[in-house]
Amino acid sequence: MTMASSQNSLLLIRSLLLFFVTIIISSATAQTSFRPKALVLPVSKDSSTLQYTTQFKQRTPLVPVKLTLDLGGQFLWVDCDKGYISSTYRPVPCRSAVCNQARSKACITECFSPPRPGCNNNTPRTDGKSSGRVVTVKKLPFTCGSTSLLEGLANGVTGMAGLGRSKISLPAQFSAAFKFPRKFAICLSSSSSENGVIFFGDGPYNFLPGTDVSKSLIYTPLILNPVSTASSSFHGGPSTDYFIGVKSIKVNDIAVKVNTSLLSINEEGFGGTKISTVNPYTVLETSIYNAFTRAFIKAIANITRVSPVSPFTVCYNSKSIGFTRFGPAVPEIDLVLQNSSVVWRIFGKNSMVPVKSDVLCLGFVDGGVNPRTSIVIGGHQLEENLVQIDLAASKVGFSSILYFRQTSCSNYNFTSNA
Ligand SMILES: *[C@@H]1O[C@H](CO)[C@@H](O)[C@H](O)[C@H]1NC(C)=O
Ligand SMILES: *[C@@H]1O[C@H](CO)[C@@H](O)[C@H](O)[C@H]1NC(C)=O
Ligand SMILES: *[C@@H]1O[C@H](CO)[C@@H](O)[C@H](O)[C@H]1NC(C)=O
Ligand SMILES: *[C@@H]1O[C@H](CO)[C@@H](O)[C@H](O)[C@H]1NC(C)=O
Repeated sequence: MTMASSQNSLLLIRSLLLFFVTIIISSATAQTSFRPKALVLPVSKDSSTLQYTTQFKQRTPLVPVKLTLDLGGQFLWVDCDKGYISSTYRPVPCRSAVCNQARSKACITECFSPPRPGCNNNTPRTDGKSSGRVVTVKKLPFTCGSTSLLEGLANGVTGMAGLGRSKISLPAQFSAAFKFPRKFAICLSSSSSENGVIFFGDGPYNFLPGTDVSKSLIYTPLILNPVSTASSSFHGGPSTDYFIGVKSIKVNDIAVKVNTSLLSINEEGFGGTKISTVNPYTVLETSIYNAFTRAFIKAIANITRVSPVSPFTVCYNSKSIGFTRFGPAVPEIDLVLQNSSVVWRIFGKNSMVPVKSDVLCLGFVDGGVNPRTSIVIGGHQLEENLVQIDLAASKVGFSSILYFRQTSCSNYNFTSNA
């Protein structure tokens, strides 16, 4: 299964090797100097795995690399078994600071085979300068995975791009390299034919027709889970996932009765709410799932349900549901945050999933009893919303659905220089 395989990949790579690579990436602003104010990467949705992928170029020679995006992932890893020959790969010296940050248990000290990443000591030839829209990031640390780890990842993908709360994730590396604020934002497109975007660095986040989304974000504190949420105990230290404090859930403004102790993180690191791009749909602990779906069914009691379509349990004939600018006209779902006036509101576009012709299902899944994390906000609920992680201020900014602002995540003008 896709989700399980990606989790396995995430787990296995913790023990793998760490290397440096040079990549080429677009900057958000036209530059004449060496330092861009922000960097942008396109994000596309893979329609078969529902993963979000991003692409940049490694050199030398220039090779485009497509990676699955992992918001909570610790680092960047790529498959080094197949087709990777570059004169700019360099091993990270053992016991180096970078290596320690990666908590890698297996640091390379010598070459095992030519010519492989890590087995070539050529100095990177790129000069690290930005030329208009494209910049080069030298010495970006990454981990070498093997082809078997790619199982379950989207077609054409050769690794994963971790954006997590670690010193060697992409946001941390870019902020360090370009001295821009420790902030980044993701905006996932709901369409697999139109790109969304990731911004590294500060706003403005300009979307057509001229909307700076950074101006209208709602903020909630970023919460640190002190216990790793990686799928094994192999990796110590705090979690690299991004947690927020959901205090309650409302459907049509009525609070869903849930066991509130599940909403906070306990000493063992269980519970709480995190944001994930590797879960296609929001996952709820069983008792929360049951209470939530009951509340939802009750709120649209006048519409007849149809046979459920896995992995969902609550489905309707879409012909009996009206449509609005924000998707199907269904009850609004609120994730109530630090206080009752700070709410992440989920409209039909983000709550309902068209599973086949005429069938719409409530796009949340049952996460079982006693899961590691009680609520995992997944991709479908994040689409067409801009979510900013501000590590320096320890807060998360969110926009709710951009359709409210007459724009969408695919409306970033990648060819614009201003
Ligand atoms: C609420 O959840 C906590 C944590 O899982 C559990 O220990 C407790 O028994 C639950 N309370 C009720 C009333 O179910
Ligand atoms: C169901 O009830 C809601 C709210 O009461 C109403 O807006 C909607 O039109 C009703 N739908 C149908 C199919 O009767
Ligand atoms: C709720 O939280 C926000 C942001 O933290 C704050 O500005 C606001 O005053 C709070 N509102 C209430 C009613 O406490
Ligand atoms: C995007 O920006 C470019 C360069 O400024 C401009 O030529 C193009 O018309 C813009 N695209 C749209 C759809 O506005």
